[in-house]
Amino acid sequence: MSGRRRALITGITGQDGSYLADLLTDKGYEVFGTVRRSSSENSERINHLHGRVQLLQADLLDQASLTMALQESRPHEVYNLGAQSFVPTSWSQPVLTAEFTGVGVTRLLEAIRTVDPGIRFYQASSSEMFGKVREVPQTELTPFYPRSPYGVAKAYGHFITVNYRESYGLYAASGILFNHESPRRGLEFVTRKISDAVARIKLGLATELRLGNMDAERDWGFAGDYVEAMWLMLQQPEPSDYVIATGETHSVREFVDLAFAHAGLDPERHVVTDPAFLRPAEVDQLIGDSSRARAELGWVPRTSFTELVEMMVDADLARLASAARV
Ligand code: NAP
Ligand code: GDD
Repeated sequence: MSGRRRALITGITGQDGSYLADLLTDKGYEVFGTVRRSSSENSERINHLHGRVQLLQADLLDQASLTMALQESRPHEVYNLGAQSFVPTSWSQPVLTAEFTGVGVTRLLEAIRTVDPGIRFYQASSSEMFGKVREVPQTELTPFYPRSPYGVAKAYGHFITVNYRESYGLYAASGILFNHESPRRGLEFVTRKISDAVARIKLGLATELRLGNMDAERDWGFAGDYVEAMWLMLQQPEPSDYVIATGETHSVREFVDLAFAHAGLDPERHVVTDPAFLRPAEVDQLIGDSSRARAELGWVPRTSFTELVEMMVDADLARLASAARV
């Protein structure tokens, strides 16, 4: 073991895991990440970190694999970003979502208790827990009313984190993060679906974009800014829970309009509403109040909504244009 600080990230192959790995390696950490066994490689988002992060096989469904990952890496900090994170899938696979996204948190906390209760633990909680919101804007004190099996599973993960902190004195912090996006966002999430479609239409590779509820409003930030808040939460003298948000809300329609305008396209000619993308229960509007994080962590979002939309469209244009050249 080196004398450097060590961190273990579950979900390192995901959007946030890859940005957090960038941040921690830049800070000089020895970074370990858990990956699931798969018949094909799934490391696209972390290929640029080859040789700078160490990958260990573990699954949030498998207690022994989590314990072994901790024994092998002996981390000072654990970031639990692994989850079934796509809300619509949580209706088609509700039990699996509960196992990964909910009970998986307990498995990891139990592994920490067994291997080293001094480990600092970060749980990736979600604004989806606010669901049918009880107040506007949402703070750390706003009651939860989840509207999807995913939101319910996240509420369990949140409360088990608080409970292990209070029951066993673990350093366990929960970040209640509002939606955050980037060019590394999965293609099924609405922002990336839009930026990818805009780029395809611009390059003549597609003609239409089919969307569900265009009136839904989200507090969208940039993932690169949000992983910094995760790290800051584990550097405090006492563990606590923080809302991380921009404090602005925008509709899907506004995202569409900005993205198409940035590429010089007219959305009226390309966007089609498709009931197939409507949800059994919708979260109509989310807007977070991150005053506590700003005051106690010194965290501020640095990327504006317009910058985020343009960054994503530009990245998809560059990616698809270069693929077309090849
Ligand atoms: P993401 O891109 O979907 O990544 C999810 C990660 O979890 C992937 O690396 C995935 O691995 C891994 N994973 C899935 N099932 C697993 C299992 N059984 N065991 C171990 N790992 C597993 O999600 P993200 O956007 O980076 O989000 C990171 C975390 O923050 C998630 O917990 C998400 O629910 C939460 N969150 C996200 C947002 C947001 O707006 N992005 C907001 C609030 C909270 P594979 O690559 O093998 O599938
Ligand atoms: N995915 C998707 N696809 N969403 C659409 C579409 C579509 O074609 N059309 C409209 N929407 C609307 C959804 O109904 C929802 O109201 C909104 O766009 C955002 O959907 P997603 O991008 O799928 O994200 P999400 O808000 O459901 O969940 C994300 O944010 C949560 C934090 O609040 C995920 O990253 C979760 O993992 C995260 O916890």
